[in-house]
Amino acid sequence: MSTPPLLVTCGLPYTNGPCHLGHLRTYVPADMYVRYMRRAGEQVVFVCGSDNHGTPIVVSAEQAGVSPRELSEKYHGHFDATFKRMGVNFDHFGMTDNPTNHKRTTAIVESLIKNGYVYKQIVHQAFCTRCKRFLPDRYVEGICPHCGTPARGDECDQGCGKHLEPGEIKEPVCKVCSTKAEFRDQEHYFFKLSSFKDFLLPYLDSVKGTTNAKNYAIGWIKEELHDWCITRTLDWGVKFPGRDDLVVYVWVDAPIGYISFTEEWANKEGTDWKQYWCSTNRVTHFIGGDIIYHHCIFWPALLKGAGYGVPYAIVASGMVKVDDHKFSKSRGYVVWTNEDYLDKGLPADYLRYYLLSYTNHTKELNFSWKVFGERINNEVVNIFGNFVYRTLFFAHKEFCGIPEGAVDPAITAEIEKTQKNVDIFMQDYEFKGAVDAVMSLAAFGNAYIQSNAPWKLIKTDRTAASNVIKNCIQLVKALALIIEPVMPEKAQECWAMLGYSDAIASHPISEAVKEVRTAGIPAPKPLFAKMEDTQVSELDNLLQKRVTEANKKMEKNPIITIEEFQKLEIKTGRILAAEPVPKSNKLLKLQVDIGNEKRQIVVGMQQFYKPEEMVGKDVVIVTNLAPVKIFGVESNGMILAAGDAASLLVPLKPVEPGTKIR
Ligand code: MSP
Ligand code: ZN
Repeated sequence: MSTPPLLVTCGLPYTNGPCHLGHLRTYVPADMYVRYMRRAGEQVVFVCGSDNHGTPIVVSAEQAGVSPRELSEKYHGHFDATFKRMGVNFDHFGMTDNPTNHKRTTAIVESLIKNGYVYKQIVHQAFCTRCKRFLPDRYVEGICPHCGTPARGDECDQGCGKHLEPGEIKEPVCKVCSTKAEFRDQEHYFFKLSSFKDFLLPYLDSVKGTTNAKNYAIGWIKEELHDWCITRTLDWGVKFPGRDDLVVYVWVDAPIGYISFTEEWANKEGTDWKQYWCSTNRVTHFIGGDIIYHHCIFWPALLKGAGYGVPYAIVASGMVKVDDHKFSKSRGYVVWTNEDYLDKGLPADYLRYYLLSYTNHTKELNFSWKVFGERINNEVVNIFGNFVYRTLFFAHKEFCGIPEGAVDPAITAEIEKTQKNVDIFMQDYEFKGAVDAVMSLAAFGNAYIQSNAPWKLIKTDRTAASNVIKNCIQLVKALALIIEPVMPEKAQECWAMLGYSDAIASHPISEAVKEVRTAGIPAPKPLFAKMEDTQVSELDNLLQKRVTEANKKMEKNPIITIEEFQKLEIKTGRILAAEPVPKSNKLLKLQVDIGNEKRQIVVGMQQFYKPEEMVGKDVVIVTNLAPVKIFGVESNGMILAAGDAASLLVPLKPVEPGTKIR
């Protein structure tokens, strides 16, 4: 039986925010892997797409005042363009909201139902009485039932990291209006994940990829395996078959995107997608460590249950942190790919190099600008760049190009050894090992040129100098060919400096040992520019400023001075009249006596008080707030009330309207 073709995918980015460094740790290594495998002679299909469904996107779209589809299209385009700028070249980049994926998801869910893996059950789900809706996933915040940490919707993201089923979260609060939610019964559909235990354990034992992925997953399964609720009360998403009020959970239709994007690609190419998703395949998923559960447990079980082939390999990266802090947009610990990096004119290849070589793929990667600058200067510029430039400069100056003569077998052997090492590392998804092996070859080249000193040799023995430089050029050629998957743009530049006019990527890696021809070369330019200290500090300052500003915003209970407090003018007032604001079901328009004047104040209390209940009440008012218009009605002051039911603050003993509060 022939080996099935390789299909590589990446975790699909959500379309509710721009691309950051954390994302890139999925895409850059996958791209390196694909480039390498192609140049090692493999047929590889590389597909990805954007993940458009789920509550975070609905919430973000609501906040932005656009439809979830519009928001998704915007960020879809953004990711597509950013990946191209980073040299990450997918054969196809689809959208999970597109018709192919709706169709494929429906078909798979129908198969699961037909095969007896789906059942109906009543769930006590969080419901907001104020917003009058069920609160799926990100609409609800509360306490994790497993570890007691504050949690959001479907995951305990600050604590134990566990997935939370609908109805599991403790003390649920509505994310939109902060009202304490209550539990109400709602019919949902469940996937019988628990009956896949006997399939999953041996599957995970044999699945290829990184060990972190399978080991975590095996641990979780041994602990316990619950059935999964696969429906949500939401309008946005793929409708559950036969139910207009339910959509499937985003983690059902998102991975199915891997299949539907393969379909879309295959249709473009006029080939059959099924060969990629049949029982024996080489589907390789690149993901971050945060979504191992979904890819190692949920997804293979879904595929198995619906009668598809299961993934061949799961490659999971460690998480990216910034300055030793967990990635967090709200706390400012984030580095944006465009705004903070590419738009500053920094080369994509530096970031690719750094992400691939900083640490082992499965380890956490702690980003800092300082270390970034050091690694680029010490390794890329000083070792790789320096060797290439010294070699080509000398060759151009003394020989107008690549001289005649044979390459020393010891040099070829060194290149071959590197190639073998790189290959072993790549087969094991050890990207750092592979990059380090190339850099060792560059260091070898530097040591070789240094100890043979052709610039001295040429004064006494021109042929010997020419042999040395020929060897060095062979090393440069090899370096360019082998580093291409890591730094494609720089490798191409280096290739052109060797006098080639075609695409380096069209040459197999094995040509690294093919003897370089004798030819003229153009005058070389340095391949890499050094990262200047001032530039590094500027980038770092920007990050620090973002963190400081985020902290200020996050400070919910700032300490204020008595002077600051005294800026508030707070008085008692007597409500003289109250009436509903037309066309609003929340607002009441009040006329209030505050002693020396009468004020009109609008309050959102219709659901808590009848107008006639309010008239005659003495209340507490902030009287020096700038006036605003609410629903077109002027409001000049703020009435103080406590809690979700707007309990009015009233003076305990009788006071005259307009009495100052101190
Ligand atoms: N939409 C889901 C994936 C669905 S796959 C069927 C998702 N989206 S994401 O936008 O949050 O992340 C996209 C990719 O980037 C995922 O592979 C994710 O693991 C990775 N990363 C996002 N932030 C990350 C870090 N801070 N560190 C490392 N990788 C992380 O998850
Ligand atoms: Zn609410």
